[in-house]
Amino acid sequence: MSKLVRRLRGAAVAGGAAVVTALGYYTTLDVQKKFELASATGPLLRTLDAEDSHRLGILAAKWGLFPRETRPDPDCLRVQLWGRTFPNPIGLAAGFDKDAEAIKGLMGLGLGFMEVGSVTPKPQPGNDKPRVFRLPELKATINRYGFNSAGADAAAHHLESFWKRVEHHPDIKPGVLGVNLGKNKLSEDAADDYAIGLMKLGKYADFVVINVSSPNTPGLRALQGRQQLQDLVTFVKTTRDNLDWGPGGPPPLLVKIAPDVSDADKADIAAVVAATQVDGLVVGNTTISRPGAVAEHPQGGEAGGLSGPPLLSLSTQVLADMYRLTGGKVPLIGCGGVSSGEDAYAKIRAGASLVELYTALAYEGPAVVPAIKQQLAECLARDGFANVADAVGADHKAAGGGLKRSRSWGRGG
Ligand SMILES: Cc1cc2nc3c(=O)[nH]c(=O)nc-3n(C[C@H](O)[C@H](O)[C@H](O)COP(=O)(O)O)c2cc1C
Repeated sequence: MSKLVRRLRGAAVAGGAAVVTALGYYTTLDVQKKFELASATGPLLRTLDAEDSHRLGILAAKWGLFPRETRPDPDCLRVQLWGRTFPNPIGLAAGFDKDAEAIKGLMGLGLGFMEVGSVTPKPQPGNDKPRVFRLPELKATINRYGFNSAGADAAAHHLESFWKRVEHHPDIKPGVLGVNLGKNKLSEDAADDYAIGLMKLGKYADFVVINVSSPNTPGLRALQGRQQLQDLVTFVKTTRDNLDWGPGGPPPLLVKIAPDVSDADKADIAAVVAATQVDGLVVGNTTISRPGAVAEHPQGGEAGGLSGPPLLSLSTQVLADMYRLTGGKVPLIGCGGVSSGEDAYAKIRAGASLVELYTALAYEGPAVVPAIKQQLAECLARDGFANVADAVGADHKAAGGGLKRSRSWGRGG
């Protein structure tokens, strides 16, 4: 045996022993330490390009390298909505697992629910790279992915395999699964695209979201206009109601709106919600505005949607307005800038029945999930709420018994 081969074999044995020792050490850690360890890799990941580290995060979740939550959620966090039980109200927003590849690993973080997508009917590459930009001082991101999607058939394949695994291991799906639908950039008929998405993917979803609010697909946000939205939602809803969904019934249909809507837009959206009886709203997507310090940031001039803490105040205000305009009758998912239990609680008090986050997971890592849940439970107990449902819209009620216009929400920005 040559010297080189002996050396290589020695190195392989030493490397293998190190991995076994590290794995052995890892398995002795308690769950909380595993979450902290996973989050400690964040600074290392942030030395990579933002899109590469996003991809690595998906692969880590897919390969089972994320910590797995085994601690039960407190009863006060449980939410009943649309006939589904959410073990807690904290979900992962759309755009992280665009192709539904890593549901098991992501749900395993102890999320109450997650949205996969946005999925477009046909595969499409999205915009040219670079298309994701970090603003680390603000813990914010600007992205212009432009609906890069492996398409509805690929997503269906991934979802089918996921559900097959759930049949044998029900515990891998502790939360509720939403599928978020987009449209292809070059498709002329948006309504057809959403209907195709629904027909191909609806059967795998506990709820379906029509995304008309991404800023990176030309013309998409115009679908939020009163007549366009009314026609679109009516068409997709009719498609849904004409399909046979079996014993589980049809998936609830939600619409995801932008935080950049004017007061007139908000009133129009509320009118469409009432007319079409859509099942809920996600409020909302990223913003094309550049609030506060973002405008002066070196990356602040990049085109695309801004996410993270600078979006909190704006998106919570729009959420509160939509709660007021819909009379508190339609379930709302609050999304935008949430990075703490207090932020999630502010969304709930403003009218959200559920809360989603994305950018905080990218900056803080997996440990942000148990931290937010614990802080939220503390907020509820502090203010004497027995559960999440009791706190939904509390700010409106505190403002004078009725659904009056309420104060500004969230941190400055
Ligand atoms: C990189 C990136 C990609 C996103 N892709 C999508 C998407 O495909 N569909 C969608 O509805 N929202 C998408 N979003 C928006 C998020 O779902 C969420 O609405 C937004 O980021 C605000 O939440 P956050 O401040 O917690 O990140 C994306 C956000 C980011 C940062």
